[in-house]
Amino acid sequence: MKYQTYHIESFGCQMNLSDSERLARQLESLGCVQCDNIVCADIIVINTCCVRESAENRIFGHIGALKQLKEKRPDLLIVIAGCLAQKDQQQIFKKASHVNIVLGTQNIDRLAEIIQDNAKNKRVVQSDAYADDGLNPNAETARHSGFAAWIPVMYGCDNYCSYCIVPYVRGRERSRPPEIVIDEIRSFVAQGGLEVTLLGQNVNSYGKSLANDWNFPRLLQQVNNIDGIERVRFMTSHPKDFSDELIEVMASGKNICEHLHLPVQSGSDDILHRMNRNYSTVNYRQHVKKLRSSIAGVSITTDIIVGFPGETDEMFEQTLAFMAEINFDSAFTFIYSKRSGTPAAKLTQQVSPELKKLRLQRLMNLQNEISLQSNKAWIGREVEVLTDGPSKSDPNTYSGRTRQNRIVLWSALPSDKPGNIRKVRINSAQTFLLKGSAVSERN
Ligand code: 5AD
Ligand code: SF4
Repeated sequence: MKYQTYHIESFGCQMNLSDSERLARQLESLGCVQCDNIVCADIIVINTCCVRESAENRIFGHIGALKQLKEKRPDLLIVIAGCLAQKDQQQIFKKASHVNIVLGTQNIDRLAEIIQDNAKNKRVVQSDAYADDGLNPNAETARHSGFAAWIPVMYGCDNYCSYCIVPYVRGRERSRPPEIVIDEIRSFVAQGGLEVTLLGQNVNSYGKSLANDWNFPRLLQQVNNIDGIERVRFMTSHPKDFSDELIEVMASGKNICEHLHLPVQSGSDDILHRMNRNYSTVNYRQHVKKLRSSIAGVSITTDIIVGFPGETDEMFEQTLAFMAEINFDSAFTFIYSKRSGTPAAKLTQQVSPELKKLRLQRLMNLQNEISLQSNKAWIGREVEVLTDGPSKSDPNTYSGRTRQNRIVLWSALPSDKPGNIRKVRINSAQTFLLKGSAVSERN
């Protein structure tokens, strides 16, 4: 069967989006072209996430729904990739007889090879987790954008936060060699790239497995120095490995964006300890203080989980108080989801679903108020935005992001186009975005 078109759906984090770009590149190397409409594609790839049960349920529903499509078109090739494919490989394979290939996170670079070797369209599971790390540090990618790129700098995670499934599905921590990362970014910038986001589950432990004392601040500094680069972002940072050296590099690197995503997870030291996070609210507060005194206007965002086993009303109140104290610019808030195989799943005192929902609502309400106030502080100021393109709801309104990663909308001028850097004067603020008028174009 000669496959001509492919369609990829990605769930979960930026690492998955980046993996999807690698999967896309492999399918293109087989001569396939991307197709927006899932119904017309010859190859469908679902790149999955298993960090929370809700994501899993949605994905299982989605996989189930593909059965009808496969019945109508038996030649359709269905690939389930990513974290859920790694975790529940046999279950997916048994439950969904219409699935052709289950490809775990360690094996994503083998998609093209498996398709080519499999002329008879046999069903294949490829997800040997730790035994054989098939990831190719030189893997090519089909980027979603010509001016902004995801750049994985490391894979896996060794932190074993007690609630988290990621280390079990993405394996041990491995850093990509710095010369490969730098070369990849150089060639992206040479082709017109402006912004890169360095990705890793905990970028602050970059380099532990490498020779020559490599660490993340050194890598970041080198990326900052690449000629022609405009914006350097990175995620995710872990407070336990966050260093003064990193703050110094962020403060002095003129291309490093004034934004730090630093998940705190809880404002209770007791919970942080049981989450195996290895820092306290005191440490976190110190990092924030130093960041704010070293980097003018830095935006600090976070992740918070409510309803971790044993979370009392008092502990939850501590989280609310910490959220208000730190004044996060924005926060992703989650209900704790029990992941079997993780240490926290064995804890008694699981919080009831009703209480978890109530807590989440209170946390979100508070953060929304804080985000609105933090956005209002930008009214009347001119900000530099990197243009993403027309907004989804109105082609005459353009959307872009500030260096602090705030979304800005403005009425498009004829010269506006994706990838432009321009100034916008902010006129009004909402919880999740700013609105303004275009002022001048920089290039
Ligand atoms: N339940 C809820 N949220 C979780 N996260 C990770 N594991 C879980 C879980 N079991 C959240 C953390 C992490 C983000 C990516 O997902 O807040 O920072
Ligand atoms: Fe999960 Fe913790 Fe690793 Fe983040 S640092 S991926 S929360 S184990």
